[in-house]
Amino acid sequence: MTRSPIEHAKLIQREFTKQATAYAANPTIIDSDWAGRLVQAVQPTPDSRVLDIATGPGYVALAFATMVREVVGVDLTDAPLGIARKNQAERGVKNVSFESADARQLPLKDGSFDIVVCRLALHHFDSPQQVLSEMVRVCRPGGKIAVQDMIASEQADRADYYNHWERLRDASHTKALSVGQLVALYGEAQLEIENLRWEQRVQDVELWMRNTETPYDTARRIRHLIQQDAAQEISGTPIFHDDEGRLCFIHRMVTVVGRRKAAGSSVR
Ligand SMILES: C[S@@+](CC[C@H](N)C(=O)[O-])C[C@H]1O[C@@H](n2cnc3c(N)ncnc32)[C@H](O)[C@@H]1O
Repeated sequence: MTRSPIEHAKLIQREFTKQATAYAANPTIIDSDWAGRLVQAVQPTPDSRVLDIATGPGYVALAFATMVREVVGVDLTDAPLGIARKNQAERGVKNVSFESADARQLPLKDGSFDIVVCRLALHHFDSPQQVLSEMVRVCRPGGKIAVQDMIASEQADRADYYNHWERLRDASHTKALSVGQLVALYGEAQLEIENLRWEQRVQDVELWMRNTETPYDTARRIRHLIQQDAAQEISGTPIFHDDEGRLCFIHRMVTVVGRRKAAGSSVR
């Protein structure tokens, strides 16, 4: 289904206003070790100025803030931004600001950041290329661009099946890319990949659907699709029952860190 950019923005705002509190309270999302691994993959220097795109409740921005000079977190939705500011106040962090902005058209100057990061949001964008090119634009030449997101199979039909049950749960999920597609986006944006890391996150299916307030009938449909997926290995997603018999799956994720070409450099 194609939506206009305005319709898509409205859908994002509706969904993340609804999800804001549950999302911000999710122990995996809060986990400082997880955000810390992203910081470590990027290796900022103490004088870095960092931009966190689609910051949500701000945990990534706040993790960078302990290591760098200044962080700006931007998001399209007011509710998570409010939580981010509250988290900032509770931690007494002074070198972060949270602002409202659309990642597709950032109201920020060219080359004004040393590092631009984006965790868990690429699969919500209607035009990931456009967002990545904005991330590159606001990053200084020689600076770093890091994306961490869940990934889908390299095989289109398997990826489609996975993205289908993700979208049923959250209509603002557009498409999780495959690693190959994400790497190709970096290539098209003329970024040099310096680091690529894997992450895994176990999801309890019932909890995962509760966090988005999935309606009863839709939840039943998703459960059925995931069980079918497990039985026939349709999407490549690891699916299992944990020790307490709960249906779970693994969100496979990658972190890609690339560098923008330094000013004046050329290929000979
Ligand atoms: C799953 S949350 C991720 C939050 C955070 N990055 C994290 O890792 O916890 C996705 C966030 O992306 C934001 N978002 C989606 N599309 C956006 C856009 N075009 N511009 C800015 N923020 C956007 C949503 O409002 C939401 O807060």
